[in-house]
Amino acid sequence: MSLLGTPKAKTHKGMDMAAIMRMAGEIEDIAEDGQVSASDIEDRAIDLGVPAAKLYAGLGLTPALSMRLEHATQVVVCTGGCQNYGALPCLNHLVDVRQARLEDDKSAFDIVPRNCLDRCLQGPVVELRSPAGTAVITDASPDLLDEALVELLDA
Ligand code: FES
Repeated sequence: MSLLGTPKAKTHKGMDMAAIMRMAGEIEDIAEDGQVSASDIEDRAIDLGVPAAKLYAGLGLTPALSMRLEHATQVVVCTGGCQNYGALPCLNHLVDVRQARLEDDKSAFDIVPRNCLDRCLQGPVVELRSPAGTAVITDASPDLLDEALVELLDA
């Protein structure tokens, strides 16, 4: 977090570093050829009894590994300091939305965690990357994400 300015008050409690490191270890276990698939993350989350968002946060801290991309649109979520402002609820919501869209045969997206998206004073920060370009959502919330995804994927 390198931007200058007055930090805003934390609104959420993020995972502690030990928990993130544990999740990063789980991600390393399920990675193949330097990549991790969404279905492997979701399966491991069920095995561990934790929200998939926590495993995505572990991946965000593991820059040597990347998501296996399956869609034209990527939703990139800061899972670093933005956890203190609600990144994990946004991420949990995205996991649910993605799953529902797949079940409904609608166009879906990949969830890509990053440890920082360089707008640390405006978290949670989410980027929607599609062939049409990149849109940045600051102060993201599940409702804002829903609006943006409908506009991008269903328009
Ligand atoms: S911590 Fe830098 S954008 Fe989230």
